[in-house]
Amino acid sequence: MNARPPMTPPTRTQVGIVGAGPAGLLLSHLLYLEGIESVVLEARTREYCETRVRAGVLEHGTARLLDAAGVGARMRREGLVHHGIVFRFGGRDHRIDLSGLTGGRTITVYAQHEIVKDLIAARRDAGGAIVFEAENVSLHHLDGSAPTIRYRAGGEARELACDFVAGCDGFHGISRSSIPPDALTVYDHHYPFAWLGILARVPPASEELIYARHDHGFALLSMRTREISRLYLQCDPGAELDRWPDHLVWDELRCRLERPDGWALRDGPILQKGITDMRSFVVDPMRHGRLFLAGDAAHIVPPTGAKGLNLAAADVRVLVQALAAFYKERRTDLLDGYSDTCLRRVWKVQRFSWWMTSMLHRGGGGAFADQIQLAELDYVTGSRAASAALAENYVGLPFD
Ligand code: FAD
Ligand code: DHB
Repeated sequence: MNARPPMTPPTRTQVGIVGAGPAGLLLSHLLYLEGIESVVLEARTREYCETRVRAGVLEHGTARLLDAAGVGARMRREGLVHHGIVFRFGGRDHRIDLSGLTGGRTITVYAQHEIVKDLIAARRDAGGAIVFEAENVSLHHLDGSAPTIRYRAGGEARELACDFVAGCDGFHGISRSSIPPDALTVYDHHYPFAWLGILARVPPASEELIYARHDHGFALLSMRTREISRLYLQCDPGAELDRWPDHLVWDELRCRLERPDGWALRDGPILQKGITDMRSFVVDPMRHGRLFLAGDAAHIVPPTGAKGLNLAAADVRVLVQALAAFYKERRTDLLDGYSDTCLRRVWKVQRFSWWMTSMLHRGGGGAFADQIQLAELDYVTGSRAASAALAENYVGLPFD
């Protein structure tokens, strides 16, 4: 495929996509493979999109979807395939054999921004239109059959006519707020803690992810490559980064991840540090007229289950099938079922993420809550049935 990117953005397309995160880019690429045109409008620069540090754990089905889309080659070369995860509590490790409990399924550790890079490269190679630094994006005529997207780019006002609009612009985007509030039911749950995450130049101290419950709070050891560690600490919501100098972050990580047998966490230069509040959020329905929401635009999960990116990919999979059925067979039933189909998975994933979060964080519930958490951890790591349920959710629930 030698097509070049168009010099000026088209004024008409089949699917107008707002947002060049994983949801918008994957949607655009999968639509292209189905012979459906799209244009992606992104508020930020390409560099920002390609360097923003976020997720890193891909479900089995997400990795396969990237392969099927022809964008999995670098992930397969550079990503780390894991067969298990570790829960650390009471001074001991308890491994969950993800593969053994799920008929050989795995997870792949590969940074979200690397997926974004791979998808942008694939769209560009195929001549796909992505407009970066699109300002003042607004959606119009969503109730009719000819929606439009207005925006400014290169100092000029532009309009994109489309058959459908995909709102893939994340939690703070404009798509969801273009829907009249009385057309949506909003489910919103806040947690009394947040995560401080770091990226550090130090080889990961463990081959597998470690989810640790400690009296000081939750900690997570993850990684990006064999040289780069990714670590998280439970902290107070609204905590400020300048209250967390690097030495304190390492002290606290060492304390929460310590094991009495002398296992040691290696430290190293911190390359990036950020705080994320934790929230569960869902809107129902995920569609209004010709606007379809996908990914964080429609739902947020707390990060403990590593599900946000995977859920975004799952929505996109459903939307592509529905749009393909429309363009190839003029069927509207899959588009009509889009929201219900997605929400069945969304709520199961919300439940899992809420459960993982509740089991591992210290939330001021007192001595009774502590004992219930420890019993839950003891049960889930000690019972094959409970471990299998965790593993099935962690590697990703099957698709219908
Ligand atoms: P986004 O990635 O938010 O992309 C939306 C895009 O839309 C952005 O590029 C944004 O600039 C653009 N945009 C916004 N507003 C506009 C506008 N008005 N006009 C045009 N463009 C706009 N998930 C996992 O599955 N596994 C993990 O391990 C994991 N870990 C995480 C760790 C952290 C610290 C965080 C913060 C999140 C984590 N997640 C994880 C969640 C995951 O990163 C998100 O769920 C994922 O980014 C959702 O993708 P998206 O494409 O829906 O939205
Ligand atoms: C990572 C993030 C998560 O939320 C999680 O549960 C596991 C790993 C990560 O960024 O590597």
